Formats: sequence, C-alpha cells, structure tokens
Amino acid sequence: MSSSRWAAVDAYLEGALITPDEALTGALRRADAAGLPPIQVSPSQGKLLQILAQAIGARSILEIGTLGAYSTIWLARALPANGSLVTIEAEPKHADVALASIAAANYSDRVEVRVGRALDVLPVLADEIRSGSRGPFDFVFIDADKINNRAYFDWSVRLARPGALIITDNVVRDGHVVDADSTDPSVIGTRALFDGFRTEARTVTSALQTVGNKGYDGFAISLVLPA
Ligand code: SAH
Ligand code: DHB
Ligand code: MG
Repeated sequence: MSSSRWAAVDAYLEGALITPDEALTGALRRADAAGLPPIQVSPSQGKLLQILAQAIGARSILEIGTLGAYSTIWLARALPANGSLVTIEAEPKHADVALASIAAANYSDRVEVRVGRALDVLPVLADEIRSGSRGPFDFVFIDADKINNRAYFDWSVRLARPGALIITDNVVRDGHVVDADSTDPSVIGTRALFDGFRTEARTVTSALQTVGNKGYDGFAISLVLPA
C-alpha cells in the first residue's frame, strides 16, 4: 500500500471527524508564512492528544518542543479554564510564531512558552515544583530533538504526578528504530529511550506504529504508576 493511500485515508478521517477552525488553521498559516518546517502533529494526532489529556482530567500540561504551537493549541483545549500548559522551545523564532498563534487562539492566559533548550529549562521546572510554586504535571508531550529523548523521558517522570501520561512522538521514524547498528544520533537516541522505558520501574509503556499524512512513524504512551 502506498503512502498516498495513507494520506488519502488521513484526509478522509479528518474530513469525517474534525471541523476546521481558525485557531488551528491560523497557527498552520503563520508557521508556513514564517518558514517553519511543516513537522507538526497531524490533525488526527492533535485531536488524540486532546482526548487523552481530557480523559485523565489534566489540569497541568508540559510540552517539550513547541514549533508553531499547533500541538500546543490542541492540548490547551483539554484544559479547564484554570488549567495551565508550559511548552519549551529552543528557537526564539519558533517561540515568537507560537506566541502569536497562542494569543490568536485566546490561550495566552493559560499557556506559557519557555524559550531555551529543554535540558536547561527542565531543571528550572523541577525547582519550581520543589519550591511549591507549581504542581507536578498531569500530562507530558515529548516532541523536540530525538537525540535527547531518554533524558526528556527521565525528566518527565520526575516532573509528573502518579497517574500522569507521557506521550513521546516519532519513536519509529520509517522503521529505523530497529537498526541496532545505526550511527544516526536520532536513532541512537530513540533506542536509548526504549532502554529507559524498559528499565524505569515507575512507568509502564506501550508504543504503536502509525501511517498517515506524516508518512510512517509511531508514538509511545507511558503511564506514571502510583507511588
Ligand atoms: N510539537 C510541535 C512540533 C515540534 S517540532 C507540534 O506538533 O506542533 C520540534 C521543535 O523542537 C522545533 O520547534 C525545535 O526548534 C524544537 N527543539 C529542538 N531541539 C530542542 C531543544 N533542545 N530544546 C527545546 N526545543 C527544541
Ligand atoms: C521531525 C520532527 C518531528 O517532531 C516530527 O513529528 C516529524 C519530523 C523532524 O525533525 O524531521
Ligand atoms: Mg513530532
């Protein structure tokens, strides 16, 4: 089966299940106009993130990798009015585009963009949780560089409450995840992530392959167990 068939089916599913709206299409338009790479989650993936966050009643969400805030807006839709979302972005240009789209979607009151490398920002969030100025996160979406995914997962487990979900995007990448001898830093990073899934006793994880308008990839879903 061809990838054009996968894309056609994705278009059908989107047409059947997702009503286009200005907050999301505006975010894509602004990202495209600013020359950001079109690597955001698909509409169906974004809606899945929203449903998962809503299903667990998430009030506090962490995202690692903002780009133009497309996934951010889907996730913000899961939050109650007094909920909050922190999203981390290393590229100031991406963060600027994201802030414009977050404002246009009317989420500036509950979404905060932290500009910096995630490995620098995550310890700051840990300090904030330790000092009590914020609670632990109910839901984490990991979607930045793939090289540091093991470290992002380890930090996410520390920053999340028992019962939290951690979703990691792009864990299959055209099937390259099975290449044990790969020299691609992203593949090495992804395989290190699976070592983390296997050895982290505080979590249980499953991973699924996906096809669609983003090609062949997959995501992992981890549950942080009760303490
Ligand atoms: N979650 C977005 C897509 C994110 S693309 C969506 O689905 O809409 C990955 C983003 O991670 C890019 O914007 C990239 O600049 C950012 N990124 C890459 N390395 C990073 C790092 N070390 N720390 C924080 N962000 C990083
Ligand atoms: C890339 C990154 C992503 O997060 C994604 O979902 C697809 C592609 C990339 O860096 O190419
Ligand atoms: Mg991704």
